[in-house]
Amino acid sequence: MIDLRSDTVTLPTDAMRAAMAAAEVGDDVYGEDPTMNRLQEAAARAVGKEAALFVPTGSMGNLLAVKCHTQPGDEILIERNAHILQFEMGGLAWLSGLTPQALDSNRGILDPDVVRANIHAHVPYYRMRTTLVCVENTHNYGGGSVYPLAVLQAIHAAAAESGVPVHMDGARLFNAAVALGVPAAEIAQHADSVMFCFSKGLSAPVGSVLCGTTAFIEQAMRVRRVVGGGMRQAGHLAAACLISLDEMVSRLADDHARARELAEGLARLPGVLVEPEHVQTNIVMCRLTAGPDACARLVSGLRARGVLVSQLTRDTLRLVTHRHIGYNEVYAALSALRECLEGA
Ligand SMILES: Cc1ncc(COP(=O)(O)O)c(C=O)c1O
Repeated sequence: MIDLRSDTVTLPTDAMRAAMAAAEVGDDVYGEDPTMNRLQEAAARAVGKEAALFVPTGSMGNLLAVKCHTQPGDEILIERNAHILQFEMGGLAWLSGLTPQALDSNRGILDPDVVRANIHAHVPYYRMRTTLVCVENTHNYGGGSVYPLAVLQAIHAAAAESGVPVHMDGARLFNAAVALGVPAAEIAQHADSVMFCFSKGLSAPVGSVLCGTTAFIEQAMRVRRVVGGGMRQAGHLAAACLISLDEMVSRLADDHARARELAEGLARLPGVLVEPEHVQTNIVMCRLTAGPDACARLVSGLRARGVLVSQLTRDTLRLVTHRHIGYNEVYAALSALRECLEGA
């Protein structure tokens, strides 16, 4: 199978499997897992924050961040198609009692002026208060789009003017860093907390991390315990994540180049709308111009030919490149696409 549904399908490398088996471990609820402690220190250093907390999933990292930055009844500003809003099961309402104010964007990238205009921080007691701004970088639904540093800086400044923190859902932060050619810390400096995942393009089997100040992470650790996320010999997982950080970042450039190649190939196919010039990282979004069932038919036609893609909306497909997708897989997927579309 050529699996273009997501970069989450990446399997651990041989080095990861060996490191997991050999990891020195202890009880992480007591803070006694040396491999986990090493990972959390390395992760915090990588994004220039004081401290980091391992979590099993990116969703849990975002959940803890949102909870720790806010009080029930508050409002948060978030992009309309953000993962936190659309794909995390309303966790911000369930656990934190928040009302999201969904903002429009350009391919997932918020406009700092729109953010500034929508912050209601100093309001009378009978108005809802904005207490958090969330940004997603890269933006999944926006097609792997990357925040320009100046835009992030302006959003952070607009929020800070009102004393409101910024949380970055950086599930694919290192894709953004590689695309911009800067260290991840240079991006993360424009957020008060940042979550990033080891389990996507970085190929670890499990794991994400939430990073911020020491006080923030101590608070997040308590909430992680509430949601059942206190783990014991979690160093076996951390061992793979350390390899993600040390060895898997620079190769993301290959995924980006292959995504661009895929998008350029898609642009040559009949009935497909795609903007290769907007493919900055490893996610390609495209729309089909044919009738209502065309997408579903294409997905099943591709599956029958050994190619898996995700259908996001009635007429939108998402294709994601990762470590298991070389140029051969890109060209094979394009021929299967052509066969399905020309046969349709
Ligand atoms: C942008 C973004 N944020 C958060 C997550 C959540 O990660 P997880 O699946 O580990 O909960 C994802 C997962 O795909 C994502 O794409």
